[in-house]
Amino acid sequence: MKHTIEVMISEQDVQARVKELGKQITEHYKDSENLVMVGLLRGSFVFMADLARAIELPHEVDFMTASSYGNTMESSRDVRILKDLDDDIKGKDVLLIEDIIDTGNTLNKVCEILALREPNSIRICTLLDKPERREVKVDVAWIGFEIPDEFVVGVGIDYAQKYRHLPFIGKVVPQDGE
Ligand code: PRP
Ligand code: MN
Ligand code: MG
Repeated sequence: MKHTIEVMISEQDVQARVKELGKQITEHYKDSENLVMVGLLRGSFVFMADLARAIELPHEVDFMTASSYGNTMESSRDVRILKDLDDDIKGKDVLLIEDIIDTGNTLNKVCEILALREPNSIRICTLLDKPERREVKVDVAWIGFEIPDEFVVGVGIDYAQKYRHLPFIGKVVPQDGE
């Protein structure tokens, strides 16, 4: 599909919001003994790296991969774990990091799976949220930005595996003739 990318949220606004989230999260977990940030690959990697450096507390990092949309724009309701965490989370405070929540199916399933491992707590922080698209309920503790139902890229988010490196959130705009 021929398209262009328009800036929706500037790099400066993204970074300012990451700092604010970092402060709130630091305050929330200040007495935690065992905090682990869990990033859902691949989309979370940029936000996770920025946020980890804005959280002024010792913490572990770990990653998992849930089955993905692949290269389409369609959500799949059959969510499976493709790559599991490296470490056990029993007794830990798990901070799940996502780049974007759309239907909610991915996080709903991931939370269900992780809860069985008896962590001390699970909370979610997402950079972007598209509430209009929600199909299943997900409790989200920290949201960077609520956005309308537009296809977006950047700060880890891809379109057909491209554009994850963009430092701003861009909107994919289809061009005529396609
Ligand atoms: C995207 C995004 C979230 C998920 C959100 O990942 O990064 O993980 O979809 O959608 P949902 O709320 O409808 O479940 P994707 O499957 O595209 O994989 P990626 O992170 O590797 O790009
Ligand atoms: Mn993802
Ligand atoms: Mg994706």
